[in-house]
Amino acid sequence: MNILLIGSGGREHALAWKLAQSPLCDTLFAAPGNPGIAEEAELVVLDVADHAAVLSFCAGHGIGLVVVGPEAPLVDGLGDSLRDAGVPVFGPNRKAAQLEGSKGFTKDMCAAAGIPTAGYKRHDSKASALAGLSDFEPPYVIKADGLAAGKGVIIADTREEAEAAIGDMFGGGFGDAGASVVIEEFMTGEEASFFALTDGKDVVAFGSAQDHKRVGDGDTGPNTGGMGAYSPAPVLTEALQTEVMERIIKPTVAHMAAQGMPYSGVLFAGLMLTEQGPRLIEYNARFGDPECQVLMMRFNGDLAALMLAVATGKLAEAEAPTFSSDTALTVVMAANGYPGTPERGGTISLEKVMEAKVFHAGTTERDGRLVASGGRVLNVTATGGNVTEAKRVAYAAVDAIDFPTGFCRRDIGWREAEREAQGDCHTNHD
Ligand code: AMP
Ligand code: GLY
Repeated sequence: MNILLIGSGGREHALAWKLAQSPLCDTLFAAPGNPGIAEEAELVVLDVADHAAVLSFCAGHGIGLVVVGPEAPLVDGLGDSLRDAGVPVFGPNRKAAQLEGSKGFTKDMCAAAGIPTAGYKRHDSKASALAGLSDFEPPYVIKADGLAAGKGVIIADTREEAEAAIGDMFGGGFGDAGASVVIEEFMTGEEASFFALTDGKDVVAFGSAQDHKRVGDGDTGPNTGGMGAYSPAPVLTEALQTEVMERIIKPTVAHMAAQGMPYSGVLFAGLMLTEQGPRLIEYNARFGDPECQVLMMRFNGDLAALMLAVATGKLAEAEAPTFSSDTALTVVMAANGYPGTPERGGTISLEKVMEAKVFHAGTTERDGRLVASGGRVLNVTATGGNVTEAKRVAYAAVDAIDFPTGFCRRDIGWREAEREAQGDCHTNHD
C-alpha cells in the first residue's frame, strides 16, 4: 500500500518514521514534508487546500491511506473529499473536526453528553460578552471560538484585562476565530493529555503525555505550541485513565455518532485533573506536537495497519495498541525569537548526536546544509527507564547539537523528575 502523509512538522516526522517501518507500507509520500521526513518518504509538492489536486495525486499514485497530520486541512474538509472519493483517510470529517475547530461546539457537546468540563457561556457579540463576565469570578477564561493557532485562550486576572481581551477578540485581533467567544469557569489542577483512537464506533486508548507550553524555564514567559513533552504521564493513573475513557472519551464518540457526524481518527483530550476528578479542557482532532513524537517512540505496533483500521471502520478487528513501558521525553530546540518572530536561516549540525532520535520540526536545506526555517526547529527525543533517565539522554544529545541561533528549555520533565527524586513515582501505565 502507498501512503500519503500531509504535514511538515516534528509530529509528521515522527509519524513518517513509524509509518515507514510498517510492512504494509510500500511507498510513503509526504506533502510537503521536511529534510528529516525526506529520510523516510518521497516528498511531493501538493496544495492541500486544492482537494481535487490531492484526489488526483491519490488516484495517480495508488494511495491506499492518507494520514492528515495538522488540524487545518481537517477543519477545511479534506477528510470529506477523500472519503467521498473512496480514499481511506486517517482524520475526521469537517463536521466532526469541529471538536477542535469550535470551542463553543465542544462545550455544547459536553453539556449535551454530560461530560465533565468547566461551566461556560457562549457569546456572539461584544456587548453580550462584556455583560456575561458578571456570570464568572476572576480569573476569567476567555476563548476565541475558532482556530487561532494556539493563541485564542486568554486567562485574565482582572475584569479590566478580561474586557480588553473581549474587545480584542471582537475587534478582529484573532481574525474570524474571535467572531464568537466562550467565557468559562477557571479550573485548577495539573494538566495532562490523553489520546484515543476511534473509527466512529469503537475506541481504544492510545497513551498519555504531559507537555510544557511556556517558552521559559520554570514555566515562565509566553505560551508556545509546546517546548517539550514526555510520555507516559504517570499522574494519569490507570484508574484515572479508565475514568477518562468512560466519562469523557466514550460519551463523546457515542454522542458524535448519534448526531450523524461520527468522529474518526485520533481524539487528543487536554485534561485538568481537578479535585473533583478529570475534566476536559479541550479536544484536538489530531496528534499533539510534540506529544506525538514521544508517543511514537513508545508505540510498539504497526502504525499503518492501525491507522488503516481506524480509517476503514475496522478498529474492532485490529490488534490492540501496545506501548513500551519506558518513558520517552522530547526537548524542543527553537530558533531565537520564538514564539515571536523566529530567526530563520541559522545553520544546524547533527553529526555528533549519538543516542537520541532527532525529529525535524522546522528545518530546510540550503546549499546542501541544514538550516532553521521555523519557530520550533528540532525535537530531540530519547527514552529511558523513567523521566530522569530519558531527560539525561535527551539533554546529552541537545548538547551535542551545533545550532548557535537556537535555544531550548533546560527543565523539560521537571515536575515528574522532582517526584522521582522524592521517590514518589507511580508505575508507567499505558
Ligand atoms: P486550550 O487551548 O483550550 O487548551 O487552552 C490553553 C491553556 O489554557 C490550557 O492548556 C490551560 O492551561 C488553560 N486553560 C484553558 N481553559 C481553562 C480553564 N477553564 N481553566 C483553567 N485553565 C484553562
Ligand atoms: N502541544 C500541544 C498541541 O499540539 O496542541
